Amino acid sequence: MKRNLRILLFTLAILLVIGLIFSGCKKEATEIVIGGVGPVSGEAATFGQSTKEGCELAVEEWNAAGGLLGKNIKLIYQDDKGDPTEAATVWTKLITQDKVVAIVGTVMSKCSLAGAPISQQYKVPMISPTSTNPKVTEVGDYIFRACFIDPFQGTVGAKFAYENLKARKAACIFDVGNDYTKGLAEFFRDKFTELGGTIVAFEAHPTGTTDFKAQLTKIIAAKPDVIYISDYYNDVGLIAKQARELGFNGPLVGGDGWDSPDLVKIGGTAVENGYFTNHFSKDDPRPIVQEFVKKYQAKFGKVPDALAALAYDAMQIMLDAIKRAGSTDPEKIKKALAETNINVVSGLITFDKNRNPIKSAVIIAIKNGQQVYQATVNP
Ligand code: PHE
Repeated sequence: MKRNLRILLFTLAILLVIGLIFSGCKKEATEIVIGGVGPVSGEAATFGQSTKEGCELAVEEWNAAGGLLGKNIKLIYQDDKGDPTEAATVWTKLITQDKVVAIVGTVMSKCSLAGAPISQQYKVPMISPTSTNPKVTEVGDYIFRACFIDPFQGTVGAKFAYENLKARKAACIFDVGNDYTKGLAEFFRDKFTELGGTIVAFEAHPTGTTDFKAQLTKIIAAKPDVIYISDYYNDVGLIAKQARELGFNGPLVGGDGWDSPDLVKIGGTAVENGYFTNHFSKDDPRPIVQEFVKKYQAKFGKVPDALAALAYDAMQIMLDAIKRAGSTDPEKIKKALAETNINVVSGLITFDKNRNPIKSAVIIAIKNGQQVYQATVNP
């Protein structure tokens, strides 16, 4: 009797263990976990809010249409606060604790440059929606992006300044501690010079400063026709204000970092006569764009910016690759990503051998506090 009781208890214990194992497996088997990263707080918080929303909209649509490989998609979105150290921390957490199969992130090139080596090390494919600095995808073969790169963006800005604005003398101001703004200023400088223009001042400012008067005083003394500001919107707003206060009335030109509803809130009328290169315009008449604008507006009650569009696109690109891979095996996802051929909101995506898409840019003007579409420029 005693022996039977022991056998019974032993059997029950075994069943319990098996049950626990199976319940664990079952949880894993019913969903595919994707990581998302963006600066939801900090220096450029509208960037992270927009990208988070873009990712959420894409995942919601895929789940409504039956999920991915027969499973529900779970998005775990992390805030990197616009800080590379924080980016590295959340990257490691997503991979080692949350066991994500892929990461859609992050926004700022300096933060993607901190996350990319971790993705590469653990072989977890990543696609940055918006990091335009060329070095990001150079980290390795698991790193992709959904946006054009800064040599192109700088070229478009320089040509616009030289050909459309007829500028012959340009000055640059940039954040010395930010790979994106420094790189973009250099690409602008090189192209503008190649076109026959002169760079009359090339001024770095420290990260986190709010007083740009020393740099701007030098710049204005050099009498440029145009000032190229390759910063993010919060710095751009302040630089524009201070440049106007110091008496500069000419055009201001910049890059995608200008794109935020907060630019005009910070810069006010100082950002009028401002132009920037971007990835997307809400006024693009293509049906895929208008449909996206409508869906985004219905869900979030506001017009999407380029960051929202690119994050939506990056998520589509990643989910499409996993679907074509037919598996969450990282090697297979990477291969499927490289073979991408998909039409998304910001255009038709195929990757070159460096895992960068070849895409057109748009030029946006700030007029009466609104972003006004000017032109599309093909590579
Ligand atoms: N291109 C910027 C970077 O690499 C990020 C960005 C993209 C910001 C698009 C705004 C809009 O850091």
